[in-house]
Amino acid sequence: MCGIVGIVGRRSVSQRLLEALKRLEYRGYDSAGLATISEGTLVRCRAQGKLVNLEMRMREQPLNGIIGIGHTRWATHGAPTERNAHPHMVDGIAVVHNGIIENFAELKAALEETGANFETDTDSEVVAHLLAKYRREGMNSREAMYEMLKRLRGAFCLAILLQDDPSTIMAARNGPPLAIGRGDGEMFIGSDPITLAPFTNEVTYLIDGDWAIVGNTDVSIFDARGNAVTRPRCTSTASADRVTKGHYSHFMEKEIHEQPDVIGRALARYVDSSSDLVAPLSTGIDFAKVASLMISACGTAYLAGLVGKYWFERYARLPVEIDVASEFRYREIPLSPHAAALFISQSGETADTLASLRYCKGHGLKVGAVVNTSESTIAREADTIFPILAGPEIGVASTKAFTCQLTVLAALALAAGKARGTLTADQERQLVKRLIDMPSIVREVLQNIQSQIQLLSRELSESPHVLFIGRGTSFPLAMEGALKLKEISYIHAEGYAAGELKHGPIALVDKNVPVIIIAPYDQVFEKTVSNMQEVAARGGQIILITDERGAASSKLETMHTIVLPHVDEIVAPIIFALPLQLIAYHVAVFKGTDIDQPRNLAKSVTVE
Ligand code: F6R
Repeated sequence: MCGIVGIVGRRSVSQRLLEALKRLEYRGYDSAGLATISEGTLVRCRAQGKLVNLEMRMREQPLNGIIGIGHTRWATHGAPTERNAHPHMVDGIAVVHNGIIENFAELKAALEETGANFETDTDSEVVAHLLAKYRREGMNSREAMYEMLKRLRGAFCLAILLQDDPSTIMAARNGPPLAIGRGDGEMFIGSDPITLAPFTNEVTYLIDGDWAIVGNTDVSIFDARGNAVTRPRCTSTASADRVTKGHYSHFMEKEIHEQPDVIGRALARYVDSSSDLVAPLSTGIDFAKVASLMISACGTAYLAGLVGKYWFERYARLPVEIDVASEFRYREIPLSPHAAALFISQSGETADTLASLRYCKGHGLKVGAVVNTSESTIAREADTIFPILAGPEIGVASTKAFTCQLTVLAALALAAGKARGTLTADQERQLVKRLIDMPSIVREVLQNIQSQIQLLSRELSESPHVLFIGRGTSFPLAMEGALKLKEISYIHAEGYAAGELKHGPIALVDKNVPVIIIAPYDQVFEKTVSNMQEVAARGGQIILITDERGAASSKLETMHTIVLPHVDEIVAPIIFALPLQLIAYHVAVFKGTDIDQPRNLAKSVTVE
C-alpha cells in the first residue's frame, strides 16, 4: 500500500526522504515521488516503477530544501504512471495521500465547475484542489485544512506541504496509520515506525480523525472538531537496521528458512519447556467462560484462522465462527455477549480486520489480536495481544508469519482446552511436547525436500492451472498453497476441500492439470486417498504430499510424492505448509517473477 514520509528538518532532506521511502518498499508500490521547498519554491520529482527510477531522476534533478514529503504509491484510482504519482501539486500546495477518498468524484465535479483543472486520474488530487480553493478564499492554512477535512469521506492519511508556510507540514489520519516522530530540532512523519526508526524512536500516533501541524520542534494535534488534543508519546521498538536478504536471493526465501528459529521463539513464549505445559496466559479473554469464539482476518492470516478453528473445536470444544474480515464487517452478525473474538494480522494494519475488531469491541466483546507488529493499530486497539514474534516479514507473500500464527493458535487452543477442562494434564503434556519438537522437524524438512521441490517446480512452472486439495486442516492448507502459488508465480491455482472435488471442480481435471494432494496420515487419510483415485481415474497428474505412513499405505501412481516425517495432527499443518511455500517460491524462480514484490500486491492493506 502507499507509504508516506515527511521531514521538517534543519538540514537537507531529499536523500533522507529517499532512504525512508526505501524502508517502505516492502509494503508494495508502483510509483514514487518527493516534494521539497527549495529557496521558497515548491519542487517535486516523481517516477513510475521502483525507487531506483526516482533515484535516477533525482540525480538529474536534485531537490534541495530542509522540509519535504515523500510517497510510494500503490495505485487504486488511475494507472501507475508518473503523471498519477504523488505528490500532487496545485497552487503551491503539495499533497501525498494513502487510502481512498470515497467521495472524490462528487468533489472533483464541484471543483471543476469552479474552474479547477485536474492533471491526474487519482482521487487524491481533490485534496490539493480543495485546499487551494480555501486558501484562495482567504483562509489560513489551519482553517483551510479543517474545512477541507470536513469534506472528505473514506479512509485516508495525508501529508501536505505549503509553499507559503515553509516551516510546517500538515498531516491527517482517518484510517491508515500515521506516526509523528520527534528528533533533535527536527520532526518526522511516517506511515509506520519502521520508516522513522533511523531518525527517532520517540513517536506519537495520531488516532482516527486527528490532524496535525508539524513544526521542526513541536507538533499541534487537533481532533475532528478542530479542538487541540494531546496524544501520548511512546518509545518505538522498531529497529533502525535495515533488514537485508543476507546470502539469500529473495526475502521470501530467507523468511522460509528463518522458520525453525522464529517458530522456536514463538513457542518459548507460549509453552513452558521445563514442564511441557502451556505457559499461563496473561489474557483479557477467559477461555473457560466464553461460549464461542469469532475469528476474522484476511488472506493468509484468515487461512491460519481456519486451521485454528479445527484446533479450538477439537482440543477446547469451543465453537468457532470464522469469516474473511471484508465480509465479517458488513454481515451485521448477531454477537453473543458470551463470545470472544480473535483477529489475526501480520501487519496489524489491515483495514478490514481492524474494522471487524472495532465492530466486535463496539458490541462489548473481549477482543484478542494475534499480530506480528505489536505497535500496530490492531495491537493497540485489542484488549489483549498474542504476539507471533516472527520478526519483520518483508516478502509480500506471507510465509514465516503464517507458520508463527499457526504456532500461536495451536498453543492458544491447548491453553483454551486446559482452561475449559477438555484436555487432561497428560494430554496437554503430550501435545506440548509435540510442539516443542517442531522447530527441529521444520529445519530437517527444509533441508531434505529442496532438490525434489525444485525438480517438480520446473514442471509446474509450465502449467497454466494447478489444483490443491486436502481434508481437515489440510483444506485451509490447500487454499494457502494455491494462494501462495498464484500470488507470486501468477499461475491460476485453486484450493478445495478434497470432498468437494466431485461437486464441481473435478470437471477441470485432465492430463494437463496437476493436482497437489495434501494428505498427512491422519483420521481422514483414507478419504483423501479415495479423492486421489478420482483424480487418477481422469488422468490428472497427481503430486502427493504425505508422510512416511501415508506413502507406505498409498499404492497409487503419482507424478511426484513428497514424503515428510510423520508428526502429530497438531503439528502437521505447520510441517505441511513448508513444501507449499517452497513450491510457490521455486515455481516463481523458474518463471522469473518479482518474488518479493509481486505485481499488483501490497504488504500492508490499509484500504478496504
Ligand atoms: C498472502 C498475504 C496476504 C495477507 C493479508 C492479510 O501471502 O500475505 O494474503 O495475509 O493481506 O495481511 P495481514 O496479516 O497483515 O492482516
